[in-house]
Amino acid sequence: MTAFSYNNGELFAEAVSLSSIAAQHGTPCFVYSRQAIEQAWLAWDQALDGTPHLVCFAVKANSNLGVLNVLARLGAGFDIVSGGELERVLAAGGDPAKVVFSGLGKTAEEMRRALQVGIHCFNVESAAELERLQQVAAELGVKAPVSLRVNPDVDAKTHPYISTGLKENKFGIDIAKAPEVYRRAADLPNIEVCGVDCHIGSQLTDDTPFLDALERLLALIDQLAAEGIRIRHLDLGGGLGVTYRDEQPPAPGDYLAKVRAQLKGRELALLFEPGRSIVANAGVLLTRVNLLKPTEHKDFAIIDAAMNDLIRPALYSAWMGIDPVKPRSDVPARNWDIVGPVCETGDFLGKERELALAEGDLLAVRSAGAYGFVMSSNYNTRPRAAELLVDGEQVHVVRRRETVSELFAGESLLPEA
Ligand code: LLP
Repeated sequence: MTAFSYNNGELFAEAVSLSSIAAQHGTPCFVYSRQAIEQAWLAWDQALDGTPHLVCFAVKANSNLGVLNVLARLGAGFDIVSGGELERVLAAGGDPAKVVFSGLGKTAEEMRRALQVGIHCFNVESAAELERLQQVAAELGVKAPVSLRVNPDVDAKTHPYISTGLKENKFGIDIAKAPEVYRRAADLPNIEVCGVDCHIGSQLTDDTPFLDALERLLALIDQLAAEGIRIRHLDLGGGLGVTYRDEQPPAPGDYLAKVRAQLKGRELALLFEPGRSIVANAGVLLTRVNLLKPTEHKDFAIIDAAMNDLIRPALYSAWMGIDPVKPRSDVPARNWDIVGPVCETGDFLGKERELALAEGDLLAVRSAGAYGFVMSSNYNTRPRAAELLVDGEQVHVVRRRETVSELFAGESLLPEA
């Protein structure tokens, strides 16, 4: 059984029909499958069996505490990019000793907290960040474990907004400059050089750029070894793509087998930071058709979810699958633009989708488990959707729907004159 499949003409999440979820919890809502999350993480972990490794889920892809808790129970590591994400991992029962801290703008405060809880490694992205980390670690009287995020200058061949490994991107340290920064790191009394890392982009559907980056990182590791700087772990970041429509990304196991083959004979622990490939296809956005608006030029189905709930189509022209929860044959199919009620032309979740629709129908926007809720906003003063985690026949509310009064609870009127 796959996590989301039709059963008697109705779409289910594991053993629960999506229409029963909508009836009980309302729409729009994100529905995640525990089984799908677990299977996806285990595919990574098991493919690395027999070699020292840590699979750190990229929290930015889905930071719901319930989702993080499912992963923490499996023994997952976590890749964080902010103090906020660190607190989420801790609140979800994650082990701080399995946390890597990425991101190019860490504050002294964030570094302090991460040092206090004892994270696994800081992925340092600049010489300036290294100096600040030295200072904070010295104040605390500890040594900060460090990997340098290098920019290997490979083209990930993905959407420009999510491509990060080219020279002109703001991320990482130019690989040619890295030895100099490593020498400095090795000299600093409160820095412990542990690893090297890179993250070249997201939604890669070909593993060649990863393997090119790996080759460049291995050359760097050899050069450093010759200078007496020993690298213990190699972190290849995240970025493995998923199927939204007809993409055919390598399965994690196939990709990791190639990485392992390239590493033969080296004593390096392997770290990865997958986000999308763990959760994207473990979630849907469940939404209801509010009104149908056929016009002379276009047919619009206005749903109760919008770009504030799921911004990927508006921001990256991303194609997301949209399926009826109960396919119907009593009305003809038309080419609907599936749009939200937000006052922006860019507010659509899909264009020209051939669907047979009536008012009140439920739709499932597929692959919404990654970069869905986490990128949502309150634009147009729309309360953010509920999040539900299905486990077999059970439905857990892992985030209740926001209320309008919560949205302006922190705001105030001016004092009376
Ligand atoms: N590690 C680092 C340092 C990252 O910057 C990212 C993602 C990941 C790991 C996880 O990458 P993944 O395995 O999920 O591809 N909002 C965009 C994606 C942005 C990705 C940013 N960095 C989208 O919706 O497509």
